[in-house]
Order: sequence, then C-alpha cells, then structure tokens
Amino acid sequence: MRHLLSPLDLSVDELDNLLDLASDIEKNPEKYSERCKGKKLATLFYEPSTRTRLSFESAMLSLGGSVLGFSSADSSSAAKGESVSDTIRIVSCYADICAMRHPKEGAPLVAAEKSNIPVINAGDGGHQHPTQTLTDLMTIRSLKGSLSNITIGLCGDLKFGRTVHSLINALVRYENVKFVLISPKELRVPDYIRHDVLEEGNVEYKEVEKLDDVMSELDILYMTRVQRERFFNEEEYIRLKDSYILTKEKMNLARKDMLVLHPLPRVNEISVEVDDDERAAYFKQVQYGVYVRMALILTLLGMEEI
Ligand code: CP
Repeated sequence: MRHLLSPLDLSVDELDNLLDLASDIEKNPEKYSERCKGKKLATLFYEPSTRTRLSFESAMLSLGGSVLGFSSADSSSAAKGESVSDTIRIVSCYADICAMRHPKEGAPLVAAEKSNIPVINAGDGGHQHPTQTLTDLMTIRSLKGSLSNITIGLCGDLKFGRTVHSLINALVRYENVKFVLISPKELRVPDYIRHDVLEEGNVEYKEVEKLDDVMSELDILYMTRVQRERFFNEEEYIRLKDSYILTKEKMNLARKDMLVLHPLPRVNEISVEVDDDERAAYFKQVQYGVYVRMALILTLLGMEEI
C-alpha cells in the first residue's frame, strides 16, 4: 500500500507516468468515467479548503466513485478529543482511500502509520502540500512543454508557504531549474529548504526582496498569499500582508511568455485586472488539479493503466 505524504514519495519516473496519465484523462475523460465504480474516497479536512477538498471530490466522482468525509474539525469527533490515529482506523473501515488536511505538520504521516488505506497529504500546516505540487507541475509541463530549463520566481510568504516548500522539493530533481526567491526577510524560505535542498543539491538560486528587479528574468512567477492563519502576531501580519501586489504595470516588466501561477486562494497579491492577461494561468491551474488528483487516486489504488 502506498501513501502520498511528500512529492518525493514519487520517483521522477513515477511522477512522469502520473502526469502522462493525467494528460490522457484530460484528453479522454470518458475512458476513465467508470474506473473507480464501487470505490470510496474519504476527505478528512481539519482545516478550511475550497480547491483541494472539492477537486478531490470532483476527481473521485469523475472516476465513477463515491465520496464521504468532513470539512472541519468541529464537525468531526476531533471536537470531542479523538486522535488522528483513532480516526484513521475508523475511516479505514468506511473508505478505500483518503485525503487529509490538518493544521499540524506531520498529522498525515501519523495517520499513514495506522492506516489500512492509502493516505494523501492534502496540506499539513506550513510543511507540505504535495497534490498542489502535482497540480503546479502539470500546469508547467502542459503550458511550457517541460519541467526542465526554467527560471521560476517564488514570491510572497516563502516561510509558511507549504506549496512553495513542496514545489522546490519537486523541481530540484529536474535539469537546469533556477530559483529566484522573492520575499521580505521575515518570510524567507526556512533553513531546511535553503541549506538541505538548494545548497546541498548545488541548485542555482538567489534571494531578493524586490519583485520589479527580477521580473524580466522569469519564465514563471509563482505568487503566494501572506497567510494570516500562520502568524502568531497580528501586527506582524498587517505589516507584511501587502508586501507584493502584482499589477498590470508590473506585468509590463515581464517576458511576453512568462506564466503567472498561484495556488489560490488569493487575497490582493494579484490585482483582478491581471486575470485578463493571457499569461495569467492560475485558473487553468485549478482545472489541471482535478486531472492530477484523478491520476493520483488511480495510481494509489493500483488502477493506473492508461
Ligand atoms: N490551493 C489550495 O490548497 O486551496 P484550498 O486551501 O482552497 O484547498
């Protein structure tokens, strides 16, 4: 039995196969529409979500399966003190696979250790968000043609941004990927990413505070939200929340083929006027998220043949 707790749980070959499967699903959805008939996906969300939970549900329904679950800790027996370990033993009796989001780093790993069904990490605190990474990789591969030979700017909250941590971990495995890390000094990537992933891996990267200075270098700009829910200090959040706002004027500094990605939700870090720019790919990214989650469900259930 396999789980997906980190993007590194899949080898590069497995990841390529999964993205190939997702592309085939995109082109031939009817071929897969009954593939999971009789199978159930449980969504265990202890933290708010729109995209991840609904795209998992949409993915399983599109495969002909069924879904069950809860969308907040308050509406589950976690509110009565039930542990994640006990909850997963119960859910293993009800479903064939589950996706778990939890505010505590490592909670899906704890669940996986006690689970009789595959566990997918749907985001754990400020740690990892591997299915967002699969979504991001499919978006880049589909729209740029390759995951190699790119310069990607990651902008905003790089300290608490789990999507950023997962994406860096995944992209360093490809050839000639350069990272431009754009953040205020208070929100720089954690040391374990800078030292253990980028420096240990001899990956080319630089850290800057000004977005304007690097716009013209980027093939991809990955914007992120400054996440109020991760701050211990409200004043610090208010001071940093408007550090970066991508506007039409800033887009004029970028290459004609630069893509703008964002895991969403956004607050104000991308002005709505940018939505009409053909380089804005964040809503297409959402659609790719359904295909990769369909491919992931099939892969973890051992039903991945194309
Ligand atoms: N991108 C993402 O994880 O969005 P949600 O928090 O809405 O699931």
